[in-house]
Amino acid sequence: MMSRLKLVGFAGSYNRPSKTFALVDHIATIASERYGFEKRVHDLTDVGPTLGQAQRQGDLDAAALAVLKEVVDADVLVIGSPTYKGSYPGMFKHFIDLIDPEQLRAKPILISATGGGDRHALMVEHQLRPLFGFFMAHTLPTAIYASDRDFVDYKVNSDALKQRIGFAIDEIAAFFPAQKLAAAE
Ligand SMILES: Cc1cc2nc3c(=O)[nH]c(=O)nc-3n(C[C@H](O)[C@H](O)[C@H](O)COP(=O)(O)O)c2cc1C
Repeated sequence: MMSRLKLVGFAGSYNRPSKTFALVDHIATIASERYGFEKRVHDLTDVGPTLGQAQRQGDLDAAALAVLKEVVDADVLVIGSPTYKGSYPGMFKHFIDLIDPEQLRAKPILISATGGGDRHALMVEHQLRPLFGFFMAHTLPTAIYASDRDFVDYKVNSDALKQRIGFAIDEIAAFFPAQKLAAAE
């Protein structure tokens, strides 16, 4: 038996509870159930206090490095970012800045974001997609944006959002032909 394919979710928020974490975990859970992935989800609080001072991966403590390693070793990534001033937060970018360009090359990445309202819904297209374009990763065609009113008690609670999440999860299939999934069982 081979080890299962790994899906890693990463939420670029320190908040607990967090709408971004809730969104990433929701997506990650459905995708993992559908494709049989082993699921892990982390946030910036898991990365911890050494991130701010780190100029390279070697400056991170063991906990932070473990999260970064999981992200770069994932077979599929679900990235979520809160929207800060129309973009991703600086600390989220700083975490991504520590990743070497070749570490995300050709990786399938589902990109998602949360924001207070709908005005910055295109931040997934104008901020997150080009960021992962730099890494030559495969961002999935459907990106997910959720605003405050898509959540109740930090749970995804919108049929339109759930439908869009379903479309994005369908798109993961292109990267994992049936025999690859079967081989990992
Ligand atoms: C510093 C800061 C800046 C923000 N800027 C925006 C913004 O430009 N557009 C927006 O829609 N929401 C903005 N928000 C709201 C957050 O994006 C929103 O509440 C998000 O869902 C929080 O995610 P979390 O619960 O995972 O931390 C901002 C929040 C903070 C704290």
